[in-house]
Amino acid sequence: MDLNTIKSDGIGGAAGEPAMLPTTAKKVFIKTYGCQMNVYDSQRMGDALAADGYTATDAIGEADLVLLNTCHIREKAAEKVYSELGRIRDMKAERASTGREMVIGVAGCVAQAEGAEIIRRSPAVDLVIGPQTYHRLPSVLARVRGGEKIVETDYAIEDKFDHLPRPERAEIIKRGVTAFLTVQEGCDKFCTFCVVPYTRGSEVSRPAARIVAEAERLAEAGVREVTLLGQNVNAWHGQGPDGKEWGLGRLLSRLAEIPGLARLRYTTSHPRDMDDELIAAHRDLAALMPYLHLPVQSGSDRILKAMNRRHTAKDYLALLDRIRAARPDIALSGDFIVGFPGETEADFEATMDLVRQVNYASAFSFKYSPRPGTPGAEMADHVSEAVKDERLQRLQALLLKQQQDFGSSLVGGVIDTLIEKPGRQAGQKVGRSPWLQPVIVDEKAGEIGDIIKVRITKTGYNSLFAELA
Ligand code: SAH
Ligand code: SF4
Ligand code: F3S
Repeated sequence: MDLNTIKSDGIGGAAGEPAMLPTTAKKVFIKTYGCQMNVYDSQRMGDALAADGYTATDAIGEADLVLLNTCHIREKAAEKVYSELGRIRDMKAERASTGREMVIGVAGCVAQAEGAEIIRRSPAVDLVIGPQTYHRLPSVLARVRGGEKIVETDYAIEDKFDHLPRPERAEIIKRGVTAFLTVQEGCDKFCTFCVVPYTRGSEVSRPAARIVAEAERLAEAGVREVTLLGQNVNAWHGQGPDGKEWGLGRLLSRLAEIPGLARLRYTTSHPRDMDDELIAAHRDLAALMPYLHLPVQSGSDRILKAMNRRHTAKDYLALLDRIRAARPDIALSGDFIVGFPGETEADFEATMDLVRQVNYASAFSFKYSPRPGTPGAEMADHVSEAVKDERLQRLQALLLKQQQDFGSSLVGGVIDTLIEKPGRQAGQKVGRSPWLQPVIVDEKAGEIGDIIKVRITKTGYNSLFAELA
């Protein structure tokens, strides 16, 4: 997953509302940064605000409430928020000059990590709310309207998802035939480069029955593909309705029984949490897509140790052998960090070697970004920006070549495609391959929600072109 390119400007909140809402209904604009979990959270905040009388807008200037759902993973991600806040401050002033209010809220991982500091740096901000307290949004907003500035970043003991309203059926339909479903939050792994254990707290799994009920509701509204989300999704565990302890593999088997749900995915996984049952699910479940995002970060054991990944390069490769034995056509994706403190040219070469051995269908790679409060930031031997740049270029060239080779290997073959939406060009529709590539087909090839067999005719930069097989 590309943690910084998934952006959704604005949410839907209007559907399912009474038709005769006064024209003075409050409007909300939500901008989402970071990972898929933020995308899911933004939707759930949208659901809560819709229940509180807000309608969604894509025009920030019209918004009574602007919410930025932020990401803290790398410095660039966090700094983006402050430049955006500068822009919004001016709009707030402009609205105020016409007698209208604009409440500015910062949610997400920057909110959790920086708290009141955000209001000190950007005094136009009225509200800072961390990821564990979104269900309190309506009551917090009432206090903001009373003139208070609020920082709400404690870890709530209650489960926010139990207290957020369920999405309306019409809203699910509007969001399309693919959906995210968060099953697990937080992380106990404490990789030394990473802020997630601090911004999202420790690992919590949602109960199996709630997840099944939510997936059934999605399927009933026409969703065909569900991606289970968690910062460490394969650490999910919980009691099943049979009273037994379930892991993610068992949960996936249960979800595969839901009528209408044709495709399942999960992300993001940690190599240490791939148990036998989950690997077997890749062999046994036709609905589980043959595509796995399994970050390794580095191919050097010395660096993996310094990162506190608690596995070696050999462990990772041996795990891939077991997964490929269960599901020979599985394609892999991964995340990499170059220039972690102490990384030598030999360490970096070990990463390049690992990439050559694995052969990734896609991957995301980043320059190490020291994050305040993490052990990595305090380590000696930071690598210079110039060296990081140069290594990133070499790694990305290799990964891009592998991605293109993977795409080319599909040309001439027949694959299943889930038709998702109209294409950008007239006469086309866009589908989704089992490996998440957009597939461009003739609009008459199928209806949205259909899964059809297509023959790949050629590849685009990041997409496939196909005809009905
Ligand atoms: N839970 C997931 C990753 C979450 S963060 C996992 O363990 O794989 C997503 C990716 O961002 C990471 O896999 C890592 O490659 C990258 N990342 C995290 N912290 C970073 C940092 N300080 N600098 C650069 N990249 C980072
Ligand atoms: Fe971050 Fe490591 Fe947890 Fe992933 S497993 S979220 S990289 S601490
Ligand atoms: Fe970013 Fe928080 Fe996700 S730091 S990657 S939005 S968990």
